[in-house]
Amino acid sequence: MSLLTIETTCDETAAAVISEGGKVLGSAIATQEKLHERFTGVVPEIASRAHVERILPVIDAALRQSGILPEALTAIAVAYTPGLAGSLLVGVVAAKTLAAAWRKPLVGINHLHAHLYACQLSSTQDVYPSIGLVVSGGHTSLYHCTSALDLTYLGGTIDDAAGEAFDKVAAMLRLGFPGGPAVSRLAAQGSRTAYSFPRSMIHDDHFNFSFSGLKTAVRYAIVGPGKQDFDNVRMDDKQKANICASFETAVVDVLVSKARRAVRKHRVSQLCVGGGVAANRYLRSELEAASKRDGFRLTIAPPELCTDNAVMGAIAWEKIRRGEFASLDLDIQPGLQRGY
Ligand code: KG4
Ligand code: ZN
Repeated sequence: MSLLTIETTCDETAAAVISEGGKVLGSAIATQEKLHERFTGVVPEIASRAHVERILPVIDAALRQSGILPEALTAIAVAYTPGLAGSLLVGVVAAKTLAAAWRKPLVGINHLHAHLYACQLSSTQDVYPSIGLVVSGGHTSLYHCTSALDLTYLGGTIDDAAGEAFDKVAAMLRLGFPGGPAVSRLAAQGSRTAYSFPRSMIHDDHFNFSFSGLKTAVRYAIVGPGKQDFDNVRMDDKQKANICASFETAVVDVLVSKARRAVRKHRVSQLCVGGGVAANRYLRSELEAASKRDGFRLTIAPPELCTDNAVMGAIAWEKIRRGEFASLDLDIQPGLQRGY
């Protein structure tokens, strides 16, 4: 029994072949970092065109690595929500076409639920009931999870996602794209208290987040209020490191504080964290410290399953067990509304 999973929600083209027990039989991923680097962010049209070129070779590579023939597949699963419309379309059309040609059932995956499922994949025990925190380039969302597929949305960012803030701070400091890893590396050498950046909504008794004010505060710290020109900024490495460290600390303080409050309020004893920003070392260590202090069990997705990948699409097995298949009418849901 094996499943083909397809992931094209943003700028990674990925496919995997996964056994029913969650074993990865084949996996391929084509990253587009180089294509978007000079724009310091993902350009949707470029992303979708690159997906078109890469989707079939990537699926082919995953299948070949697994040694599984298409006729032996149990089903084909694809992330159809949320994400960039043009990117989602490529994966969904590919999955539907192959499902029709190979006469295989189709399964639709929610990309954010899959990010959290990466925690279950790396855990030897059941990670439910739990609070789930997804921190990625496009989302910062908290859920109350009673199973892999039963998630209640508690809140999320009302403007920028945490990863977006990392990427924009990196762009302001000319650190390249994607910015998270670069900001995190510099932050390790800086002072976490050099700047007192805002921690928006940290004390509010709800589970929404806001990072756009923090982004603006960092900008003022670099160029000064009302100024646009980053090219004339002269900052040495120490100053940049201090900005990165103080920024990273502000983001992590908010994430950890809200996650702890959600665990307390919903009286669960587990916290799961996934998404690209969950690869951040400082976030991981602060979450570990909070879990020891508060006594909850913490599962963070392994770093290689934090950023977008098709392995976390193993969540489709949970849907297959419930008989939740999609029809060939499955459409993309880019998700401009909040709460998934
Ligand atoms: O989950 P992901 O691969 O894509 C989305 O679904 O958005 O997340 C990508 C985001 C980017 O914003 C990237 O800068 C951030 O994750 N990221 C990090 C780190 N590694 C990746 N942010 C902070 N620290 C990191 N080490
Ligand atoms: Zn993602």
